[in-house]
Amino acid sequence: MNNEYIKKLEWRYAVKKFDPAKKLSEAQLSLVLEAGRLAPSSRGLQAWKILVVKNPELRAQLRNASWNQSQITDASHLLVLCAKKDIGEEFVGHYMETIAHERGVAPETLDEFRKSILHGLSAQSEEEKKEWMARQVYIMLGFILSACAENDIDACPMEGFDSKKFDEILGLSREGLESCVICPIGFRSDDDSFASLKKVRFPKEEIVKEI
Ligand SMILES: Cc1cc2nc3c(=O)[nH]c(=O)nc-3n(C[C@H](O)[C@H](O)[C@H](O)COP(=O)(O)O)c2cc1C
Repeated sequence: MNNEYIKKLEWRYAVKKFDPAKKLSEAQLSLVLEAGRLAPSSRGLQAWKILVVKNPELRAQLRNASWNQSQITDASHLLVLCAKKDIGEEFVGHYMETIAHERGVAPETLDEFRKSILHGLSAQSEEEKKEWMARQVYIMLGFILSACAENDIDACPMEGFDSKKFDEILGLSREGLESCVICPIGFRSDDDSFASLKKVRFPKEEIVKEI
C-alpha cells in the first residue's frame, strides 16, 4: 500500500538487537511519552503509569528478570507500562477533580458519572479489575508503538519478563502499581538479523470480514 503511515508500519519490527550507542533525544522521548499519555482508556480513567527506566544498574537487574533479553539493557530507554492497583474513591475523586478543572465545570455536575464508575468498579472481582486495567495499558502500548514507527524510532513490545520480579526491583507495590507490559525504545543495531526478515501477516481476507 502506497501510504506513508502504512510504509512506516511495514518498516517497524520488534527489534531484537538495539544499538546501545544510539540514544533518543529528549524531544523524541517526550513525543513517545506524549503519545502514550494521549491514549484513550475506558471511562477516561487513565489508571496507569509509564516508568522510564534509565538507570543502568536497575536495567541489568531487570534483564535478569527477563530471560536475559538484551533489549532490556541495550535500548536507549526502557518503558515499563504499569496499571494502578486499588482503584477506588480516592482515585476516581482525583479524576473528577481533573475533569472539573480542565473543563471548567462544577464537580457536583459529575456526581452521576463518579457514582457510575465506582459502581462498575465494585461489581468487578480483583482479578477482573486487574485484567480490565491491563487491557487499557495495552491500548497505551499500541499508541506508543505507532508513534515510534511514525517517527522512525525503534521499539520492541515485550511480555517476556517476570512481572513480579520487576515489581520488586522497581518498588512498584509501594506506589500502588504493577507492571503489565514493557517496551524498550531506541534504535536498531546495524546487524540485527531480524530487521531483514519479511513481515509475516495473514492476508486481509483472513483477518477482515465485511458483512
Ligand atoms: C504483547 C507482546 C509481547 C511480546 N513479547 C516479546 C518478547 O518478550 N520478546 C521479544 O523479542 N519480542 C516480543 N514480542 C514481539 C513479537 O514477537 C512480534 O511483535 C511479532 O512476532 C510480530 O513481528 P513484528 O512486530 O516484528 O512485526 C511481543 C509482542 C507483543 C505484541
